[in-house]
Amino acid sequence: MDEATIWSELGPEGFRRVVAAFYRRIPGDDLLGPMYPAEDLQGSEDRLYHFLCFRIGGVPRYLEERGHPRLRMRHLPFRIGEAERDRWLEIMAAAMEEAGVSPEVASALGAFFSQVADFLRNQEPFSP
Ligand code: HEM
Repeated sequence: MDEATIWSELGPEGFRRVVAAFYRRIPGDDLLGPMYPAEDLQGSEDRLYHFLCFRIGGVPRYLEERGHPRLRMRHLPFRIGEAERDRWLEIMAAAMEEAGVSPEVASALGAFFSQVADFLRNQEPFSP
């Protein structure tokens, strides 16, 4: 499934539902909760929302407000190993389900999220 199909099925409202469900789960998460700014969670939600509208739907607002995403660089201040990557993906999968995303779209978006999340890892897996 290509990005245009995902965008036509979800639209901005669908992405808004997904990121809202994602960020509702963040404060209560033992691993990821402490990484996000409690006083600006709405700001975090908006950044992810506009990024997805840009990346999947071609809407330029994220680029205008934040510049080139440089996601790896922007995630360097946070410790992201396999556990953090997997937790982010679990929370996102639950958020997509709660937001009523169809299994086909969830699987296509899930593949995209997995690829980016793995690329953002900045800690080597533990090896004895
Ligand atoms: C691998 C696990 C991940 C962790 C632990 C993580 C954590 C974080 C944290 C703590 C922030 C700062 C919150 C803020 O914006 O105020 C952030 C920002 C952001 N994250 Fe992630 N993230 C992960 C994966 C992803 C993935 C997979 C994507 C995209 C598909 C993504 C997209 C973004 C975006 C767009 C921002 C805002 C960047 C900006 O404009 O400053 N993140 N992330």
